[in-house]
Amino acid sequence: MCALRYSSSWPTKAYVNGQWYDAKSGKTFDVINPATGKAIATVPDLDASDVQVAINAANDAFKTWKKTTAKERSDLLRNWYNILVDNKEYLAEIVTAEAGKPLAESLGEVAYGNSFVEWFSEEARRNYGEYVPSPIKSKEILMIRQPLGPVGLITPWNFPIAMITRKASAALAAGCTCVIKPAENTPIMALVLAKFAEDAGIPKGVINVVTASRANTPQVGQLLCESPDIYGISFTGSTEVGKLLYKQCSSTVKRIGLELGGNAPFIVFEGADVDKAVAGAMASKFRNCGQTCVSANRFIIQNKIFPEFVTKLQSAMEKLVIGNGKDSGVNMGPLINMSQVEKVDRIVNDAKSKGATIVMGGNRAQTFGERFYEPTLITDVKENMACYVEEIFGPVAVCIGFDTEEEGLKIANSTNRGLAGYFYSNDLSQVWRVTKALEVGMVGVNEGIISSTEAAFGGVKESGLGREGSSHGMEEYTEIKYVCFGNIQQE
Ligand code: SIN
Repeated sequence: MCALRYSSSWPTKAYVNGQWYDAKSGKTFDVINPATGKAIATVPDLDASDVQVAINAANDAFKTWKKTTAKERSDLLRNWYNILVDNKEYLAEIVTAEAGKPLAESLGEVAYGNSFVEWFSEEARRNYGEYVPSPIKSKEILMIRQPLGPVGLITPWNFPIAMITRKASAALAAGCTCVIKPAENTPIMALVLAKFAEDAGIPKGVINVVTASRANTPQVGQLLCESPDIYGISFTGSTEVGKLLYKQCSSTVKRIGLELGGNAPFIVFEGADVDKAVAGAMASKFRNCGQTCVSANRFIIQNKIFPEFVTKLQSAMEKLVIGNGKDSGVNMGPLINMSQVEKVDRIVNDAKSKGATIVMGGNRAQTFGERFYEPTLITDVKENMACYVEEIFGPVAVCIGFDTEEEGLKIANSTNRGLAGYFYSNDLSQVWRVTKALEVGMVGVNEGIISSTEAAFGGVKESGLGREGSSHGMEEYTEIKYVCFGNIQQE
């Protein structure tokens, strides 16, 4: 199929059963460009009664979608992928406009997001079952995988494309239909993805996008979690909201995948290559202005190399160019909204008031706009400071010293979160020991950027349940059915 190149204006209605859909109430809400604080679009503010229409559509569509062959689903996903690739610059501009990322980073996210569609177009055909040798001669044992049914996908604003494609393409590949509830900050991308899916030939009702304001989001989430017509939920977002959705899913004993908050340790051991560690630290900490769940949250540095690391990190941070992500040369954009700005400010002020040293930054960067924050470097951090215990989700690097490997690991694991962890070491035995001892779902060894379609993304402890991407990603959307063939007359 020849992909089209789009330059027309963005869709600004919800997408339900293959139709562009207004809220029954007629209500709308504004989408704000975080760099300028100005509205860039207005979209419908759906409530539970509208979302029920989308759930019904996903159920109707499931009746036929589940009967498509894996090859047919694979081909449709491939068509979708081709269109997405053909429109990558257009998509990147949307990421920058809605989420504030520098354009180069938005292009990176688009490539990452598209890669999930490509991957699951391939994985669709490998949804294998199992034949297991039976202990009884007259019986044969088989296990097949079947789609869960219509699923609810609740996605965050920090990766407007990748978090949708990581979920939706796995769900579709498995034979599920979906209702996508994008974050209220970044609904345009979800609508554009639905438009491109329609152009790719994905039938009506298979993908539905329900847009809702912050005020309506709780009732939409609750309906998706409690509806007996939704068979699975996948959520990426905060641990607090994840716990609430987990509870709501219990009423229907619904499958739930949760990719929640992190508090990633980033350990640098003496003997490590400090320059490489600083490069990894910059990539991990300042990607999307620190607003990623896998962002390094605590730099835990062996005391012998602490001064060298801090000096080098500061000089790398001084090179960051703050501004509107659409402007050339900018490599650090704004925070997404005022509540993020207030949170980062609260965490930094708490550290200041409790005696931390602010080596660099420490203030809002209001000359650029009200959502900008200075790259901030903090030392002399204590356990009672918010920056030690909370996920910062902002451009604030917190450095903590330690003497022994045991002490470094104790600090690293002293949290109820366990998404990603990083460490730099050139000692092979230490590499194995620390890899095994870190209480996280993903480890970067001498590497600050670990996300990859091919790898299983997910956490332990209060950072989540289940894995996305990789050959495990489709498991979230399938049920194993055991089939026992009895009374078989063997020769
Ligand atoms: C996230 O921050 O939630 C996802 C980050 C990633 O996939 O790299």
